Amino acid sequence: MAFTGAGISTESGIPDFRSPGGVWTRYDPRDFTFDRYVDSAEVRRNSWAMRREFFAAAPEPNAAHRALAELEREGRLTAVITQNIDGLHQAAGSRNVIEVHGTAREVMCIGDHPRAGIAEGCDFRAPTTWAFERIDAGDDDPRCPRCDGLVKSATVSFGQAMFPEPLEVAAQHATTAELLLTIGSSLQVYPAAGIPEAAKRAGAALAILNDEATPFDRIADVVVRGRAGEVLPTAVATALGR
Ligand code: APR
Repeated sequence: MAFTGAGISTESGIPDFRSPGGVWTRYDPRDFTFDRYVDSAEVRRNSWAMRREFFAAAPEPNAAHRALAELEREGRLTAVITQNIDGLHQAAGSRNVIEVHGTAREVMCIGDHPRAGIAEGCDFRAPTTWAFERIDAGDDDPRCPRCDGLVKSATVSFGQAMFPEPLEVAAQHATTAELLLTIGSSLQVYPAAGIPEAAKRAGAALAILNDEATPFDRIADVVVRGRAGEVLPTAVATALGR
């Protein structure tokens, strides 16, 4: 199993969150909570603007994403559990990708006034480009075409309940893994960071590839300090006897 964080996408030009210059060193995460999104049309407008910047940059998968896709094609990787919402694992060819924080590639209805961080909308979902088309047509706060509820990226924001299904699938995989390889994550955000912990408790070997220390280094079987795009292709080629 691979468990990835924002660090696997920095070499695709997407900043991570907690490194120097990362997103949370430039923005206040309290402005990005689920309740702020629900309560403020301005927060929603800023969020769509940030999404458009992301899409305009059209980030491409890098060698680390491609190395994991190759490991899966060769039958040596069961799934990628990712905290990332950028869709780059799928773009690199990975097929079994579990997005525990959802995806910025789609939008969903979250209902008219969801409370307690639960996205309780109808089942409307669309590609994120649907929202951009609505905004270009002059509607800067797109509502659900079915129930007039609020529309949000299909991601998990701070203060929002996790989507139960991907977390359950990830936890099942983690408890059957022989090896769990974490890549590019500071392993500080729960419940996602509980997945490598659960794998280790269930008997998996834990390997950490990260370019700075993590709280899990002391329990890991292997810690590799380095850049994912440099280390992973070599590690995968070696594992595949190339
Ligand atoms: N190669 C290896 N490691 C890298 C690279 C790289 N090219 N670039 C950055 N890193 C490391 C950083 O040193 C950092 O420890 O990746 C880690 C990224 O950590 P975070 O920025 O905290 O990102 P992540 O662990 O994915 O955050 C988890 O927090 O804000 C929420 O929902 C958000 O999914 C995110 C979650």
